[in-house]
Amino acid sequence: MSWGLQNRISRMFPTGSGHTVMLAVDHGYFMGPTRRLENARNTIAPLAPYADALALTRGILRTSVPADCPTPIVLRVSGGATILQEDLSDETITTPMAEALRLNVSAVALSVFVGSPHEHQTLASLADLVSDGEEVGMPVMAITAVGKELEKRDARYLSLACRVSAELGAHLVKTYYCDGFEKVVEACPVPLVVAGGPKLENDRQALELAYSAISLGAKGIDMGRNIWQSDHPVAMLKALRAIVHEKASVDDALDVLNGEKNRRLARAAAT
Ligand code: R5P
Repeated sequence: MSWGLQNRISRMFPTGSGHTVMLAVDHGYFMGPTRRLENARNTIAPLAPYADALALTRGILRTSVPADCPTPIVLRVSGGATILQEDLSDETITTPMAEALRLNVSAVALSVFVGSPHEHQTLASLADLVSDGEEVGMPVMAITAVGKELEKRDARYLSLACRVSAELGAHLVKTYYCDGFEKVVEACPVPLVVAGGPKLENDRQALELAYSAISLGAKGIDMGRNIWQSDHPVAMLKALRAIVHEKASVDDALDVLNGEKNRRLARAAAT
């Protein structure tokens, strides 16, 4: 692995814990204006200082993140389908490597749709992106998207998708939490980060998901909706940081969340 590629990866793992807390705000690339991400700039600004990386598209980066933002960027470079289509897997590379370099990002990310009608094209895109990335020192994160096929969110399917991604050269893999997650981790020789998926019933459930994933070997999280659709997004992000970086229990993380929430409510009441 080249020095540049290692350097970029290390930017996203900055605390020495060997783990990372990425904030996913790329949903608009196929979902349009998702709830509480309608105005991306307003959603991202208060959260960016507490994220180890921001995962987004070039459009949101250029329009909604100030160029002096020090948080490393994971640039989504695949797309081409929207939720209006039955099949979300018809994706291609939407942003060239030269643009990723111009934007000075720390990694590029694309979805792979294993088991879908467009499995081949998304896996071929991954392999090409890895080759292009290695030429210029750019890490590639494969996102094992499940699209509308949520029934495939099981350990057998996700192990297959993560392992194939790693075999094709992905430097990082993002996947979903599932029963038997340890099997997914064991079979994947590169670091795994977990997405949160749709907003869970309450904050505790999202903290439990993160706790279980980290306990079973994930190297971090790359969560979106369970953070910025929470009523207390900054408090939620800080609580997740405690789990990921400080090995906090779910109860300790809830204390972090409630402490931060109460401080913010008190500050708001005082102004
Ligand atoms: C899909 O839109 C992206 O890969 C998301 O970044 C990923 O699903 C993580 O976001 P969430 O935690 O909301 O699922």
